Amino acid sequence: MSFAELWRELEPIGRDPATGGYRRYSWTEADAQCRAWFTRQADKRGLTVETDNNGNLWAWWGDARDDAVATGSHLDSVPDGGGYDGGLGVVAALAAVDLLREKDFHPERSVVLAVFTEEEGARFRVPCLGSRLLAGAVDPDAARALTGDDGVTLARAMTAAGRDAGLLGPREDLLAGLAAFVELHVEQGRALAPLGAAVGLAEGIWPHGRWRLGFAGRADHAGTARLDDRKDPMLPYARTVLAARRAAADHGALATIGKVIAEPGGANGVSAAVTAWLDARAPDEDRLEKTVGAVRSAALGFSSECGVTLSVRQESYTPPVRFDEGLRDRIAAVLAAAGLEPPVLSTGAGHDAGVLAARVPAAMLFVRNPTGVSHSPAEHADLADCEAGVRALAMVLEDLSCR
Ligand code: GLV
Ligand code: MN
Ligand code: MN
Repeated sequence: MSFAELWRELEPIGRDPATGGYRRYSWTEADAQCRAWFTRQADKRGLTVETDNNGNLWAWWGDARDDAVATGSHLDSVPDGGGYDGGLGVVAALAAVDLLREKDFHPERSVVLAVFTEEEGARFRVPCLGSRLLAGAVDPDAARALTGDDGVTLARAMTAAGRDAGLLGPREDLLAGLAAFVELHVEQGRALAPLGAAVGLAEGIWPHGRWRLGFAGRADHAGTARLDDRKDPMLPYARTVLAARRAAADHGALATIGKVIAEPGGANGVSAAVTAWLDARAPDEDRLEKTVGAVRSAALGFSSECGVTLSVRQESYTPPVRFDEGLRDRIAAVLAAAGLEPPVLSTGAGHDAGVLAARVPAAMLFVRNPTGVSHSPAEHADLADCEAGVRALAMVLEDLSCR
């Protein structure tokens, strides 16, 4: 099947008709539909599909479970995300298999297509949860207790989806069977367009993390509580948003508060509590620590001025990632032989390939994003560039799967 045909099939699943954005949260109906679609596609190609104990899907081309070459990405999304983030890597993996089959290629090593669960952490707040569990980077008990905004734990959500959350945990056997993992992903940022390149290669990922800031104050009447008597958590929260921006600018980092919940949420009342999530990323851990430290102490100062109590909890942390140089050089050589010279880029975006990189030689291919916009319905890649990505991925899989 062509890339465009596959893309058209996946495109409507989990898309909100009003915003045009995707709401593919893990272990929901939209997620089930994505899984069913991928399983159908794998079945059609005679691949053997397995769901591992952490909910990640694996579609095997070849019987051997060792020395395999893995590719793939994720199908979950951020709230109102774009369709390319994750979806592109999965569709490209299927399309690359089709390209190789068309030329009657038979891999000597198994090729396995992976779809990782909860890459965005949009529902259970820990990004790359499926790959972290696989790699033993998250405690299974802690994972089972993770709770989304709807009050449902991961354990309950998995049970409702027919999975046994009691089985969550590392899979050394699966990891030991992978010779390499190559994730193709839409570019998030706009480095390739000015360079005139359709495809890029990843060098590394910035260290990043998420922190939950809880501002606890006292609910009161908006029409009667004197300003001086209030303990309004909205005030230190609002000042902290600006402090995060300042801290990021001061340290050459990025800091974002993209999610906030005010409780109880009455328009005519002072809030009892405000919870906000700080996402921070930097080129190195020192700058990241300084940025988060500055936000934390600003939030603390503002809170005490307003009679508000502050709690700060780190919900996830990803150290810096350097992708395997040997694998990248090999991929660059394969692509150079086809006349391609993909620029090598670092990114602030997190990926399952970054988690796996700690255990398996890993690499990433980026497909040009002409506007650079991502985590938005406006995210886009041109069809011709997606097809170029598929051809590049097929060449890479062909090379890596030959002994
Ligand atoms: C994932 O896209 C992330 O970087 O948050
Ligand atoms: Mn994303
Ligand atoms: Mn992604």
